[in-house]
Amino acid sequence: MILLDGKKTSADIKEEIALEVGALKRNEKKAPHLAAIIVGNDGASLTYVNAKVKACERVGFESTLIQLPEETTEAELLNEIEILNVDNDIDGFIVQLPLPKHIDEQKVLLAVDPAKDVDGFHPENVGRMALNLPTFISATPFGILELLDRYEVETSGKNVVVIGRSHIVGSPMSILLSQKRKVGNATVTLTHSRTQNLEAITKEADIIVAAIGIPEFLKGNMVKDGVVVIDVGITRVADASKKSGFRLVGDVAFDEVAEKSSFITPVPGGVGPMTIAMLLKNTLIANKRRNS
Ligand code: GUN
Repeated sequence: MILLDGKKTSADIKEEIALEVGALKRNEKKAPHLAAIIVGNDGASLTYVNAKVKACERVGFESTLIQLPEETTEAELLNEIEILNVDNDIDGFIVQLPLPKHIDEQKVLLAVDPAKDVDGFHPENVGRMALNLPTFISATPFGILELLDRYEVETSGKNVVVIGRSHIVGSPMSILLSQKRKVGNATVTLTHSRTQNLEAITKEADIIVAAIGIPEFLKGNMVKDGVVVIDVGITRVADASKKSGFRLVGDVAFDEVAEKSSFITPVPGGVGPMTIAMLLKNTLIANKRRNS
């Protein structure tokens, strides 16, 4: 069994990005600038956004964090988005999800300039992704493709089973892996909460992407020997022995599945760190497009 080490791989990618930023600066070009908007005080979201900002500093990017109170109106948020859309100094920005319930997420995602949508959530960019046109691929699926690529995991002709049909992970993952691309050409089955006899389907899988958000959902008896397992789950489970009061648990019962796997991502340290590296990569791409 080989661990797909997202921590190390993301560090490698960040180093590559930092080298490119150094070259930009030496040529008196502008460093990439990422902005993030967060609304409210959700602990997990704040942790993620702060990690994104810190990662920017590490690779030499400029960053701007816009923290808005929970009671921010939809109109106020749309106004902040428009300010970033027209700010020439900003190459890309994200609006951290989830948003408070009184704000319409679709309206917000539609308001982001697709050229600055480094999350790849705007319908135009989702459409371009589905058509295999140049776009911003969302950080989590992009990170999974990159991890499979760097560990030279063969996907062509393989049976891939994706568990979960979210707009952020399951759905784009199923589309990307079925496309004619370097990490792709797979035969993909997208499964979800209405899928019948899931175990019979997962047992046939060469590669499984578990993105359902249920801790330890995928058990050892649901996979075949030699399977490749990508665990996207990061549920916080109460744990009094931890300083934070919780531990992160994936969608895979790690020990029993790892025993049968050829490759598997750990949680934490697998897909999670890759998402930040790929957000930085998208921001670098946005910067290059704007300045070319
Ligand atoms: N919430 C969970 N994942 C993400 C992400 O990739 N981007 C944003 N903006 N919010 C998220």
